[in-house]
Amino acid sequence: MFKENFLWGAASAAYQVEGAFVADGKGPSIWDRWAHIPGKTYGGTNGDVAADHYNRMEEDVRLMAAMGLKAYRFSIAWTRILPDGRGAVNQSGIDFYNRLINCLLKEKIIPLVTLYHWDLPQCLEETYGGWLSKDVVSDFTNYAEVCFKAFGDRVNHWIVINEPNIFTHQGYSLGIHPPGMENEAAFIKAYHHTALAHASSVLKFKALGLEGVIGSSIAFSPGYAKSNEAEDRGALEKYYEMGPWLFMDPYYKGTYPKEAERYYTRLGQWQKVSPDDLKMLKAAAEVVDFIGVNYYQTAMLAYNPQDGVGQAEMNTSGKKGSQKESGVPGLYKFVRNEQLDYTDWDWAIDPDGLRYGLAQLKKRYGLPVLISENGLGFFDEINAEGEILDVARIKFLDAHVKACLEAVNEGVDLIGFCVWSFTDLLSWLNGFRKRYGLVHIDFEKKTLKRTPKASYYWYKALIESEGTLDADGFINAQTKGDTGCII
Ligand code: BG6
Repeated sequence: MFKENFLWGAASAAYQVEGAFVADGKGPSIWDRWAHIPGKTYGGTNGDVAADHYNRMEEDVRLMAAMGLKAYRFSIAWTRILPDGRGAVNQSGIDFYNRLINCLLKEKIIPLVTLYHWDLPQCLEETYGGWLSKDVVSDFTNYAEVCFKAFGDRVNHWIVINEPNIFTHQGYSLGIHPPGMENEAAFIKAYHHTALAHASSVLKFKALGLEGVIGSSIAFSPGYAKSNEAEDRGALEKYYEMGPWLFMDPYYKGTYPKEAERYYTRLGQWQKVSPDDLKMLKAAAEVVDFIGVNYYQTAMLAYNPQDGVGQAEMNTSGKKGSQKESGVPGLYKFVRNEQLDYTDWDWAIDPDGLRYGLAQLKKRYGLPVLISENGLGFFDEINAEGEILDVARIKFLDAHVKACLEAVNEGVDLIGFCVWSFTDLLSWLNGFRKRYGLVHIDFEKKTLKRTPKASYYWYKALIESEGTLDADGFINAQTKGDTGCII
């Protein structure tokens, strides 16, 4: 059974839904700039308008309330609160999030607040190179403190940083997110600074004595070895040390995996960690309350020789099968898992992997877990009746919720599950066609009309049943019934 007061939620992120990118004193973020550079995003899409949530927030909360959502995870845009990243506070930004939080609470929906979902103030990027400078740690902590003080009387759940592993890897190593660098040493440095910003904010939160819980969310893809051969098993081990554990240990143990340290030191790319930094990481790891897990897929690892594959272009087109093999020469490569089905964007669909991953986290960190994201990116279709019968999404979510339940029955302390995403939104590099929402948004004709999908009604029933719904029966009922209703 899921625990009492389980957080049945859905999620979003400021840049992906809000729009209103220059409204009411908001400053520019690195994504506002990046998405305007030709060729950087799929079809030149950007978040200038996105789902226009900034102007339609009340309507969106009404839809959440009508489905009985228990929790809504959203992120605060740093540049609405502090347009230059530091200095004067922009009261209009505070007002917007106050309105949102109050609307949610009025509907008995618990706000789960992410402080950072990738939209660094452009000003800090220009002033000192953003995440590459240690100055970002104090600026971030100051921003976090402003938010804790402004909203902490009503917000009891805080996610400090969303997927530091993804935005640093893609921004500093692969060069496909801002600031577009391809430099491993820069990636390690930026990643280290995210860990310090997280730790310093966790300690600030605790020092303020506010009620509530705090953690950060990491993208976690548990891995399998392609075969039982020693070389493939070795590749799997290296993947964990250089991937999941490198990303989670500093946040949740206050240490760095030795193997990763040795590897990057050999290449002259390691960031020397000072005793004071280590002390801060340790102190925060001792008081952090939960691990946020964004789970989408697993990884299959195989041996990759020194002259093997390196990075490959990502499938951002939605052409299934177009993702090429990629890897780290001399360590490991990602290969297709023939046992699994894949999405059109070549993400492995693997509910069992979630259960397996949760068991691994329990063993390694022993902390409560919040599934802060899980969902299916998909080409949704509207039928002649105006309905979106997203059965594939229902099946995907149903299987993952079941995996969560199995993990709970095996002793994992799970505090909530957030569907990614509540409404359709902008997928950073994949445009508006890769849809995740429980609520459809008309991006095509640009009316931005909201229409609940079949998955919205499925999730509503799941929440009502406290996660005990027999989804198969429900899928049948809903896909044949009246699903196109607009609230
Ligand atoms: C997570 C992010 O990486 O995955 C979200 O936190 C993102 O912001 C989601 O949208 C899905 O990824 P994508 O690339 O398909 O949009």
